[in-house]
Amino acid sequence: MQEKWWHNSVVYQVYPRSFKDSNNDGIGDLNGIIEKLDYLKELGINVIWLSPVYESPMDDNGYDISDYEDIAKEFGTMEEMDQLIDEANARGIKIIMDLVINHSSDEHSWFMESKSSRTNSKRDWYIWRDQNEDGTPPNNLRSIFGGSCWEYDKGTEQYFFHSFSKKQPDLNWENQDLREELYRMIRWWLDKGIGGFRVDAITFIKKPEKFKPVIADGQDGLRVVKPNYPGVGKFLAELKAESFAKYNIFTVAEAPGVELDQLSEYSGDDGYFDMLIRFDHVDMDMDESGQWYAKKDWTLLDFKHALTKNQEAIKENGWTALYLENHDQPRSLNRFIPKEDINNRSAKMLATTFFFLKGMPYIYQGQEIGMTNIEYETIDSYNDISSIDQYNVALEAGLSKEEALEVVHRRSRDNSRTPMQWSEEINGGFSNKEPWLQVNENYKQINVEKALEDKNSLFYFYQMLIQIRKDSTYSELLKYGVYEEHLNDHLDVYAYSRSLNDQKLLVITNFSNKEVHLNLEKRSKKIVLGNYDDTPLLNEIVTVRPYECMVYELD
Ligand code: GLC
Ligand code: CA
Repeated sequence: MQEKWWHNSVVYQVYPRSFKDSNNDGIGDLNGIIEKLDYLKELGINVIWLSPVYESPMDDNGYDISDYEDIAKEFGTMEEMDQLIDEANARGIKIIMDLVINHSSDEHSWFMESKSSRTNSKRDWYIWRDQNEDGTPPNNLRSIFGGSCWEYDKGTEQYFFHSFSKKQPDLNWENQDLREELYRMIRWWLDKGIGGFRVDAITFIKKPEKFKPVIADGQDGLRVVKPNYPGVGKFLAELKAESFAKYNIFTVAEAPGVELDQLSEYSGDDGYFDMLIRFDHVDMDMDESGQWYAKKDWTLLDFKHALTKNQEAIKENGWTALYLENHDQPRSLNRFIPKEDINNRSAKMLATTFFFLKGMPYIYQGQEIGMTNIEYETIDSYNDISSIDQYNVALEAGLSKEEALEVVHRRSRDNSRTPMQWSEEINGGFSNKEPWLQVNENYKQINVEKALEDKNSLFYFYQMLIQIRKDSTYSELLKYGVYEEHLNDHLDVYAYSRSLNDQKLLVITNFSNKEVHLNLEKRSKKIVLGNYDDTPLLNEIVTVRPYECMVYELD
């Protein structure tokens, strides 16, 4: 592979609304992030992915942008944004921005112009269609956040298309003026010295040739919009050439619908992006419909298989985002560990699982201190637009209110959006004022202050993992070493090795609360890490204790 500055980087995702409130209005902000840069530097990360901070009516917490070149007032000012970029750079940390260009807000001036008349010069910047003869919408596609993806505009008597909420109209990528304006805006941000972009929902930008009615699979006679239509590649190639390729940066794209055998087209040295965010290992618990209530059971084999397939697909010159949680997912501890077994040890095991794979590790805020899901008692306490939709979908499917709430407890995006737990103080030290979303009541036990006082804490474990990746005798191997899975059929243990030249690391993680006896036909030269005080040497056979993890350098 061509060597890149970001190949040994570790990313920390900040969800600004929930990170740190500096002016006590209950909402996290840019100054709050600046305040905590030294904390992130101590953790050791060198890239921050900032979820959207642009001007927005916040229908989807900033993923609905009304001005790409301004900052939402509740988060701060453009001067503060520039200051954040500079202060982060001064600490060796690059900021990457979230780039949401499949859709804008309906309050963006482009959309207001587009909507003002059928002949407006920006009419074609969005997707407008006539109603059917019987007055129904152009077709029966369902938006991701519920209801038809067509919204009627009385003024101009046409429908506009939205993949997500009706306050997120899709931009019409077929229009060249629009595309050029987007590229100019992207370059404007890159000129500020940021490290790149996390590109949102990008495979949705190409629409089907004709919006024909489709066979429905939902109860409401609607079928959810699909991403990655043929032809999307032309836009993606142009996007890269006109913006990203001109800078020494990286891009990580959320690209649903891309198949594994398309990875080299979409990512890696010659791809449209440097790496993709894959869903294989986090969507194991849902069936094809993608509805949260349609719960599917999964085993560790599914998880291992998903990771291994992805590792194999990027073997040659690819890269990938390594993650277990983010602002769209529940907390990984709740997802991968039974509730009664969630503790410091199992959390370290889980961290070890993904940190030695090929690619770029992403830590989501709070993951480094072991933050967990919340279970609000009523649906009214939830803020997330998709949680409320999915609650209703579950009710329509015949689930009781209790069952529907249980679905939301398990899957809600608010699980990971509760305020960051900094200390034992009121609201977890996030804010003096009642936060926009209730803090998790376990903040007295789980918080940053406590983690920093305890040398044995998960925080310091992550710090060590990051240091090993960035700056140790294993750094080269972790960047480019060949991945191989071992004990592929084992139901409780995930084991893999990475090797480069004559160096080899073996990672063993036990996902069960039982002792397991393994014969790996391998001998350790050195113990790199473990989560018990007395990690045993590996001498062909080894006993792995409940939730134990060990990393060995092999003979
Ligand atoms: C992506 C974001 C998600 C957002 C959606 C619409 O999936 O990660 O948070 O709601 O796109 O922009
Ligand atoms: Ca604030």
